[in-house]
Amino acid sequence: MESLSKRIAAARAAVAGAGSLDEWERLRVSLLGKSGLLTAALKELGTLPAGQRQQRGAELNVLKAELSAALEARRAQLEQDAALARLARETVDVSLPGRGAMPGSLHPVMQAMERICAIFERMGYRREQGPEIEDDWHNFEALNFPPHHPARAMHDTFYFENGELLRTHTSPVQLRAMRGRTPPLRIIAPGRVYRSDSDQTHSPMFHQVEGLMVAEGVSFADLKGTLEAFVTAFFGRRFEMRFRPSYFPFTEPSAEVDIRWTDAAGKERWLEVLGCGMVHPVVLENGGIDPERYTGFAFGLGVERFTMLRHGVDDLRAFFENDVRFLAQFG
Ligand code: DAH
Repeated sequence: MESLSKRIAAARAAVAGAGSLDEWERLRVSLLGKSGLLTAALKELGTLPAGQRQQRGAELNVLKAELSAALEARRAQLEQDAALARLARETVDVSLPGRGAMPGSLHPVMQAMERICAIFERMGYRREQGPEIEDDWHNFEALNFPPHHPARAMHDTFYFENGELLRTHTSPVQLRAMRGRTPPLRIIAPGRVYRSDSDQTHSPMFHQVEGLMVAEGVSFADLKGTLEAFVTAFFGRRFEMRFRPSYFPFTEPSAEVDIRWTDAAGKERWLEVLGCGMVHPVVLENGGIDPERYTGFAFGLGVERFTMLRHGVDDLRAFFENDVRFLAQFG
């Protein structure tokens, strides 16, 4: 009994000093568990002479009650400490400055498209829209691509089962702008176009801006002057430009426009930037316009191309990955 009460006194001190709920649980098991100190002492009662059993049993029960109460008190304290610690950890300091919201901005391709359209609007052009899902007539046939014309193969077209297609260029808007109107007319048609093509310089969806002017006496000289004024305004400086003979079914004559470009390394070369020409008489007729009386010019350009040149970006895919670190530079 002597040594038991010493051990119990030591145990109570340990309980009072238990630093964590894990330690507390180990103590509880070592005292009151199945093979704990007190449980063992109670089991030994049976080996005592009958005369001592009752008194000893009563003493042990008092000790057991005291130990239980001490354990319970320590557990309550440990739980409260843990709760307070968690509250302290989760405190929000409302006086800290906020992280701030990053302001968004127009995508660089949209910025370039706006810039292109604004330049032409200053020259009196009006914006026109057409559908991205087109029919064969507007996208090809009316633009003087007969059904098996080889030029169709240059457009890797996405077709729908019903014969409709995703427009491969903005040129079909020319037809929509001409029909039901009388010249003079000047329109600019920005929008998405689609081709089954994808690499460093091609994306299956990209943007074009189409231009069309029809009036009496419009000449190739008007086309040249207009495009020279546009290129100068877009890049903010003059370029040496050349109109290189080319072929499009919907224009005759047709040209591709090159500008004399100096790259980052200082090397000069000709860069193709757009396609253009005098509107083919067949196209004017399909647009309901008398080709004997009116003439017109048209042009089409790739917006991504102009954006890349303006900002010195050489991989088209950067514009479609939408990495905020890239986009934020154009904000
Ligand atoms: N539609 C042509 C293309 O996507 C570009 C083009 C060339 C448009 C000449 C025109 C034009 O209006 O006259 O390749």
